[in-house]
Amino acid sequence: MQAEMLRLANDMASTHSFSFLLSSLAVVTLGHVLRSPSLHLRRETKSSLGYPKDSLLNFTELTAEYGYLSEEHKVLTDDGYILTMFRIVKARNCHRAKRSPPVLLMHGLLQSSDSWIDSGPDAGLAYLISDACYDLWLGNVRGNYYSREHVRLDPDKDPAYWKFYIEEIGIYDVPAMIDYVLEYTGFEKLNYIGFSQGTGTFLVMCSEKPGYCDKVKLVISLAPASRQMHTQSKIFRTVTQFFYRMEDTLSRAGLYEAFSKGGPGQEFAAFFCHLSSEAERLCEEVIYEFDHVNSLHFGSIASKTIRVLFGHFPAGTSVHNMARYGQSMNSGRFEKFDYGREQNLVLYGSEEPPQYNLSATTVPVMCIYGKNDGLVDTRDVEWLMAQLPNVLELVKVEDPQWSHLDFTYSQYTKNTVFPKINEYLLKFSYG
Ligand SMILES: *[C@@H]1O[C@H](CO)[C@@H](O)[C@H](O)[C@H]1NC(C)=O
Ligand SMILES: *[C@@H]1O[C@H](CO)[C@@H](O)[C@H](O)[C@H]1NC(C)=O
Repeated sequence: MQAEMLRLANDMASTHSFSFLLSSLAVVTLGHVLRSPSLHLRRETKSSLGYPKDSLLNFTELTAEYGYLSEEHKVLTDDGYILTMFRIVKARNCHRAKRSPPVLLMHGLLQSSDSWIDSGPDAGLAYLISDACYDLWLGNVRGNYYSREHVRLDPDKDPAYWKFYIEEIGIYDVPAMIDYVLEYTGFEKLNYIGFSQGTGTFLVMCSEKPGYCDKVKLVISLAPASRQMHTQSKIFRTVTQFFYRMEDTLSRAGLYEAFSKGGPGQEFAAFFCHLSSEAERLCEEVIYEFDHVNSLHFGSIASKTIRVLFGHFPAGTSVHNMARYGQSMNSGRFEKFDYGREQNLVLYGSEEPPQYNLSATTVPVMCIYGKNDGLVDTRDVEWLMAQLPNVLELVKVEDPQWSHLDFTYSQYTKNTVFPKINEYLLKFSYG
C-alpha cells in the first residue's frame, strides 16, 4: 500500500502538470471532508518513511534541537479558549542579559508559532530575534493545533467552538496573550510583531478593545492583512471565495474547521513534498503559484525548509475565518463580517457591516512589505498605512521578488528584513 502510494506520487510529480496542481489544491481544500483516522501515521512510522526530523518536532523540541531553550505557557481567554504560547528563555547566541520590554511575535493565517522556526536558526525570525537578546514570546491563535482547546467546548463535537473569525481573535486572543506576557514579566508594555493576519487582528483589537493599544510601545507590521481588495493570487482568491460562498452548505454538512493539521491536506503535503527532488520542486511551485505576483522566482525558500514547513502548515482555522477572507477580497473597506442586509440590520443596526476604526491604532507602527506579494498587495498595504495615525516608517523590501511567505520562510531574512526589525526593537527597548 505504501509502496503504491509512493509510486503514484512520484508518477504525479514527474508529469508536472497543472491539473495535478489543481487536484492537490482540491485535496487541501476538501481535506477535512475526507478526514479519517487511518491517515494519522505515527511519528515513528513517518520517521522511518524518511520525513525530515524537523517536520515532526513541536516548538520546544525543535528549538531545543538547535540549542535554544523554550517554555510552554497556557493562556485562558475571556470566552474560554485555551491558547498555547511559547517563550524562548535561552537563545544560543545571546550571552548577555535580555533586553526589555518583551516582544510578542504573531503568526499569520493558517500558521502557528512553528512558522517562525521552520527555516532554521540562520533564517527563522524567532531565532534571529532571540539571538539579539530580546525576551521573545510567540503566540498561537484559536483553532490552530497548539490552541485547539476550550474550557467547555469540544472542537471535535461543538460547532460553537468554530464560530470565530479575526473579530474574536482580535477581541479575545490578542488581548489575553498581551495581558499574560505583561503580568508574567512585570512590564507595563511590550513590542508587538504581527505578520499578515497577525497585524489584522491587532487592528481589530485597537478598534474594539479601547485601552489595549496602550499596552504596546511599538507595532512592527509585516505584510499586514486588512482589506484585501487587490490580492492577486488566483488560488487564494478562489479558495477563500469557495469558503465565502459555501459556508452555509459546509455547515449543513457539519464542516466548521478548515485545513487542520493532521487533516489529509496537510498529511498529503507533508508526505508528498519529501519524496524526491522532483516532488519537492513541485511543492515549491505550488507555493510560488499561490503567493507570487510576477514571474516564478525560485530559491528564496530553501528546499529543506519546504520539506519541513509542510509538517506544520496548514495549522488550521475555522471555515468562518476563511469565509471572511473571501469577503475581504471583494470589499474596499476593512470591516466586520457581512451576513447580508437583513441579518446585518439585526446584528449591527445597519445594512452594511461596520468598519473597524483604524484611527484607534494609535501606537507607533513600522511596516515592512514586499513588491511581489500575491496575497497582500502593495496597494492595500499603502491604503492601510494612509489610514493609521502614527506610522513611523513604511519599508518596501528592496528585492523585487520578495513575497508574502518570504517573511516567515525565506533563507534571506537575516539581510533583508531582520536589520530593520532589529533597528526598531533596539530603539523601543530600554535596558
Ligand atoms: C512538545 O513535545 C514535548 C516532548 O515530546 C511534550 O512534552 C510537549 O507536551 C509537546 N508540546 C506541545 C505543545 O505539543
Ligand atoms: C475611532 O478611534 C478614535 C481614537 O480612539 C476616536 O477618537 C474616534 O472617535 C473613533 N471613531 C469612531 C467612529 O468610533
